[in-house]
Amino acid sequence: MLPPFPEGFVVGVSTSAYQIEGATTDDGREPSIWDTFAHTRGNTRNGDTGDIACDHYHRWPEDLDLLVELGVDAYRFSIAWPRQSNLDFYDRLVDGLLARGITPLPTLYHWDLPQALEDRGGWLNRETSERFAQYAANVGRRLGDRVHRWITLNEPVVHMAEGYAFGTHAPGRTLMLDALPVAHHLLLAHGLAAQTLPGEVMLTNNCTPVMPASDDEADHAAAAIYDGFHNRLFNDPVMLGTYPMDVPGVRDGDMDIIRTPMHALGINYYNPTRIAAADGPLPFRMVPIEGAETTAFGWPVVPEGLYDLLTGLKRTYAEALPPIYITENGCSSDEGTADKSRIDYLDAHLRAAHRALTDGVDLRGFFVWSLLDNFEWSDGYRQRFGLVGVDFATQVRTRNDSFRWLRDELTRRRDH
Ligand code: FCB
Repeated sequence: MLPPFPEGFVVGVSTSAYQIEGATTDDGREPSIWDTFAHTRGNTRNGDTGDIACDHYHRWPEDLDLLVELGVDAYRFSIAWPRQSNLDFYDRLVDGLLARGITPLPTLYHWDLPQALEDRGGWLNRETSERFAQYAANVGRRLGDRVHRWITLNEPVVHMAEGYAFGTHAPGRTLMLDALPVAHHLLLAHGLAAQTLPGEVMLTNNCTPVMPASDDEADHAAAAIYDGFHNRLFNDPVMLGTYPMDVPGVRDGDMDIIRTPMHALGINYYNPTRIAAADGPLPFRMVPIEGAETTAFGWPVVPEGLYDLLTGLKRTYAEALPPIYITENGCSSDEGTADKSRIDYLDAHLRAAHRALTDGVDLRGFFVWSLLDNFEWSDGYRQRFGLVGVDFATQVRTRNDSFRWLRDELTRRRDH
C-alpha cells in the first residue's frame, strides 16, 4: 500500500498524439515530421509508423472510459499541431473528459512539427517559435473556456538531441553541437506561448540526475558538462533567465520572454545517467549504472534517482523553483498482463516522490507514462509502456495487473 499523498495531489496518466491517435490523414491533418521520418526506410524498428497506432482518434470514448475505471484525477494528452486547422477532435475529447469528471492537461507540442515548417528550417528557424505562439493562441481560443492548465512543450532536450543533434528521431538531422539554436527557439516558443495562453502554464523537461563514472577529475568535469546540456540548458532559462553556456541566436528581450512566470514545472523522470569523459566529437559518454536492474528497454531502475532529482532541484533553484508535477514516469515491460516489474517500478517511484514531498519539495502531482501501449518512436511498437496492453492487429485493449494495482490504490485513497 502506498503512503498517503496530500489532499489535492493529482494522479494521472500521460499519452501523446502521434503515439496513439493514428488517423494521420483524417479531417485535414497535415503531414508532420514524424510521418516523414517513420515512412523513411531504416528509421524505425520494423518500419513501424504512427499511421494507425492505437486508433485512439476513433476509439477515444472507450479509452476515456478506461480512465474512469482507473480512477485518475487528470489526463495528460497532447494536441497535434498538424491538426491546427481543425480542432474538433480535441473539442470533443475535452468535453468527454469533463463529462467523466477528469481534468484535461493538454501538451501543445510533443514533437510532431508540421512538415511544412520543417521545410522552412524547423526549429533552427526562429520563425517557428512565432508560429508556435500563433498556434497556441488559436488552441487557447478554442479550448480555453474549459482547459485551465497547459503544458507548452514536451522534453525540449530530447527533441533537440535526438531530432536535431543525433538524428535518431524526426526530423533526423545530425547537427551535433550545431543543434544548439534549436534549444533557444524551443524555449522562446515556450515563453511566447506562455504569454498568450489563457490560464496556468507549465513546461515539461526531461531531467536526469548525473553521476560521474569515477572519482577522476575528468569524469567529474564530463558529468558537469552533460548536466549542463541535459538539465540546466532547459531549466536555468525558465527559472533564472540565463543559459549555463553560450547559446547562439539570443536577442535582447528573449530571456525575459522565456522566464515568463510558470505555474509549475513538469518533470519527466525515467532514470539517472552515469557519465565518463570521452575524446569523441562530444566530451562525454554514457556508461552503465552498475548493479541496477533494467527495464525491458534496458533502462536502469533507480527510484532514489527521482528523490535525488527533486531535492537537488530544490537546492539548485531555491525560491525560483515553482511547484513540480511529475508529468511522466513508467517503464516498458515484456511480461504481458502479468506486469509485476511495472507495479514494482511505479510503487518504488511513487514512494521516492512521497519522500521528496515529505522533505519539503512542493510536488503537486504524478502522471504515469502511459495509459496504453503505443508507438514508442524509433523503437516502434516493440517497447510496451501501457497500464493497458494493446493488440495492434485487433486494437483490443487488455487491462494489465499494473492497471488493477493503480486502480485499487486510487480507490483506497478516495475511500479514506
Ligand atoms: C519520453 C517521451 C514519451 C515516451 C517516453 C517513454 O521521453 O516523452 O513520449 O516516449 O519517453
